[in-house]
Amino acid sequence: MKGIILAGGSGTRLNPLTTVTSKQLLPIYDKPMIYYPMAVLMEAGIREILIISTPEDTPKFMKLFGDGSHIGLSLDYKIQPKPEGLAQAFIIGENFIGNDNICMILGDNIFYDPNMKEKLIRATNLIMGATLFAYKVDDPRRFGVIEFDKNNHALSIEEKPLHPKSNYCVTGLYFYDNNVVKYAKELKPSKRNELEITDLNNIYLNNNTLQVEVLTEEAKWLDAGTVDSLLETALFIRDKELAIHKKIGCLEEIAYRNGWIDSCKLEESIHSMGNNNYKQYVKKLLK
Ligand code: G1P
Repeated sequence: MKGIILAGGSGTRLNPLTTVTSKQLLPIYDKPMIYYPMAVLMEAGIREILIISTPEDTPKFMKLFGDGSHIGLSLDYKIQPKPEGLAQAFIIGENFIGNDNICMILGDNIFYDPNMKEKLIRATNLIMGATLFAYKVDDPRRFGVIEFDKNNHALSIEEKPLHPKSNYCVTGLYFYDNNVVKYAKELKPSKRNELEITDLNNIYLNNNTLQVEVLTEEAKWLDAGTVDSLLETALFIRDKELAIHKKIGCLEEIAYRNGWIDSCKLEESIHSMGNNNYKQYVKKLLK
């Protein structure tokens, strides 16, 4: 299984914060936002990752992560010239995906779930079909909304409905089999002129090959789409890290614990870090 992080969009809802930089590079407490979705892919055991972003922002992500070898990854980069929908990522990424299954995560989605690892493993073990992750929200009209029957089977998915059929939103973490490329190419642009991920998910729903993982009560999911949720996310990460005595989204730590980098490689990374709490935390891993 390979991974895609879609980090496009102009982030206008966060102006002036995003006037000269990408939303996905804004800080969430002590790390750039994109670290958190990157950590999710790494926790899922995915090492070949494509970052898709705008023509202006792609060089910044390249500067941040390079080829990814310092964190045990093999990274590729591609440009989405215009924000023409999330599902376009599978057309842009066609060559990268090749014959593999694919997991896509949005660069502004932050997940915290103590049981995330087992859910991710179930999803990566998928051979046919798709897996989505649902989360209960107060304002479902801002999202893709999923309706369940009594047995928790998905009945419908609607994009930003005026009258949502449930409070469960579809988060920006999607696992698909290789058919996704073919399906994405068959999509027609929506009224807002985008290739909608919800249309893609509905293909899997209609084929009866869609699984949904519901995030637990203790879980937190945020898409940092407003200045308030940006701040809320940063405070959540700080408080949670203090409570669990562990960093969330520390990529060097995940790579090291996964056995993707050895202590020499980790030491090289530490040398290039500024003298701060992040460095002190990573240094402790060597002891
Ligand atoms: C997109 C999807 C939506 C999903 C959301 C999660 O919305 O279209 O279905 O619920 O991501 O972050 P957008 O961020 O494009 O408004």
